[in-house]
Amino acid sequence: MVDTIFVGRACGKAILLGEHFVVHGAPALAIPLRGLVTVVSIEVRPDTAGLVMDTDPAVVSAASEAVRLLADRFGLDGDSLTVRVESSVPLGCGLGSSAAFAVAIVRAFQRIVAHPGTCQLDVELTNATALDLERLAHGNPSGVDNTVVCYERPLVFRRDQPPQFIEGGSPLAFLVADSGIRYSTARAVAAVGEFANGNPVVFREILNQVEGVVRLGMAAYLRADGTELGEVMTANHELLQKVGVSSTLLDRLVRAALGAGAWGAKLTGAGVGGSILAVLPPENIQVVTKALVDAGALRVLNA
Ligand code: PMV
Repeated sequence: MVDTIFVGRACGKAILLGEHFVVHGAPALAIPLRGLVTVVSIEVRPDTAGLVMDTDPAVVSAASEAVRLLADRFGLDGDSLTVRVESSVPLGCGLGSSAAFAVAIVRAFQRIVAHPGTCQLDVELTNATALDLERLAHGNPSGVDNTVVCYERPLVFRRDQPPQFIEGGSPLAFLVADSGIRYSTARAVAAVGEFANGNPVVFREILNQVEGVVRLGMAAYLRADGTELGEVMTANHELLQKVGVSSTLLDRLVRAALGAGAWGAKLTGAGVGGSILAVLPPENIQVVTKALVDAGALRVLNA
């Protein structure tokens, strides 16, 4: 029997260093979060009367737009598709929900048009197409999210350049604390753009500092040196505060993590709301988790 259901999967991500500044040409260090997964299944049935979307109501309209774009690209009739999205990547938390959706749905579409029995997907095509979907969602994405999700490897990313994968490096313990506040990435990116335009000299200096932070952070990550990585993460948080994408709650969560024994902490992703990320000695996981919840985190995840 010919398959009529095609599935694509993708993981979440965390940005360790460099978010926002990466939109303006600085590097960013990002890691895949393999424990968070988005699964897109697409059923193709010529007798379906119009596109059916089975996903979180909050994203139906954006997801339908993505399906229409991909149906057009892949030469398929969007009205014959039923698209189901299941995801453990929380929405609007800075953990890559939109990139995971983008990569997963492109993979599913590639499977629809692949010759039967073929399972090799074109990674570069997946990544480039997912970036187009990210443009639909955010307007001006750097490409870091879709790239780390697509390759599922820790990497240093610089806009419009091939990713630099980080080989080796023993795993460090990270915690993600969700502030419970949702904010649009597009708005946060636009606000930083306004800051950059209004304060070109200050912003140029911040970008220079980010270069150093990411260089040190990458070396520390490679050596699994949590103390050094933590220091540069906290320094990076201060740079993000300067451009206006932190908040009272995010700052409180960062302080709580540091006060309870994390090596370092910062907001991760677009900020304003979303999450903070802490690197910490594994033996402090419980006490830092409790401190984060006490400080107002909606939930805390091991990353
Ligand atoms: O919050 P997220 O997962 O959408 O992350 C956005 C990362 C930014 O650097 C703020 C934007 C970008 O395109 O790089």
